[in-house]
Amino acid sequence: MHAAVVSSFDAVPEYRRFENPVPTGPHDLVVDVLASGLHPRVRSQADGSHYTSTDELPLIPGIDGVGRGADGTLRYFILPDTTRGSMAERTVIDVRRSIVLPADADPIAIAAAMNPAMSSWVALRRRTAFDPASNVLILGATGSAGRMAVQVARLLGAACIVAAGRNESSLAELVELGATSTVLLDMTDDEAAAATARRLGAASADVDVVIDYLWGEPTAAAMVAVVSARADRSRPLTWIEIGSVAGVEAPIPSAVLRASRLQIVGSGQGSVPTADIVAELPALVEAISAGAFAIHARAVPLADVATAWAAPSVGTERVVFTP
Ligand SMILES: NC(=O)c1ccc[n+]([C@@H]2O[C@H](COP(=O)([O-])OP(=O)(O)OC[C@H]3O[C@@H](n4cnc5c(N)ncnc54)[C@H](OP(=O)(O)O)[C@@H]3O)[C@@H](O)[C@H]2O)c1
Repeated sequence: MHAAVVSSFDAVPEYRRFENPVPTGPHDLVVDVLASGLHPRVRSQADGSHYTSTDELPLIPGIDGVGRGADGTLRYFILPDTTRGSMAERTVIDVRRSIVLPADADPIAIAAAMNPAMSSWVALRRRTAFDPASNVLILGATGSAGRMAVQVARLLGAACIVAAGRNESSLAELVELGATSTVLLDMTDDEAAAATARRLGAASADVDVVIDYLWGEPTAAAMVAVVSARADRSRPLTWIEIGSVAGVEAPIPSAVLRASRLQIVGSGQGSVPTADIVAELPALVEAISAGAFAIHARAVPLADVATAWAAPSVGTERVVFTP
């Protein structure tokens, strides 16, 4: 078969022949891959920087996708940590980490949207007791996952949705998708950072849940701003760490944890059991198939993987490879 193959962590994957995948366990199933998304997690897998990475090469990248089994059934699947990923003509899935899709499901839309949408969907449904009337702050709302988080929060019934990000034009689009207010994060100098903290505090003083894609210094600053602005410091505040586009470590002052009912949790594979993630997938597929979310997807033939991988990303468009 053909696959995208990483032979060096310093180089983009190349399209070449690779041995066919072989099922080894009782729950393994070989599927023809129809679509596989180029998510940030896949890039970190391919450059060896993800915390689950080993030195093992060559590897086929790809953590999820849509495939068809020999019986003709269409499935969305999430792969376990593996060096034989989904960016190939065929891959081995564990059926327990997959769900059957309706026959008319759009593989490109599903492959593009599931990973970014799942981040907030699973966080709100599995990492906090989300009350539909809650107020939500989305920190780093201008990427694919943040944009989805606005729409997920709206669909799940959030009362106020504050979208915060550094890209002014993207923030304006988020209002059309359900954000009730936006905050521009400008950290260019101390004055700009202080004004950002004031804006964020004013907009987010009574949020109940924070969906955080940033971490790093911006998260530490935002935590201080939100906690300091709270009218009622005994009001529970659940800060859900999901991404780390602004830094893998954050210098969080201890006082924010003493001065408020702040609790910090994470959401992702590991902090949410795989069975719980899989249990959430059908409802999410249903929402995607019903057109509940605006999805920016671009299908690219897998044969063009090297060019597409190296090309600069275009807004929140998610590249989906079609073997
Ligand atoms: N835990 C989970 O379940 C889960 C699932 C999916 C994704 N994730 C993680 O969530 C994060 C976002 O994923 P994604 O799919 O949305 O990626 P993406 O589409 O590449 O978006 C990331 C966005 O972050 C913004 N950004 C980067 N640095 C920033 C900074 N310093 N301050 C403010 N904004 C910044 C950029 O927006 P602008 O250029 O417009 O500012 C960029 O578009 C990644 O870390 C990913 O690994 C986690």
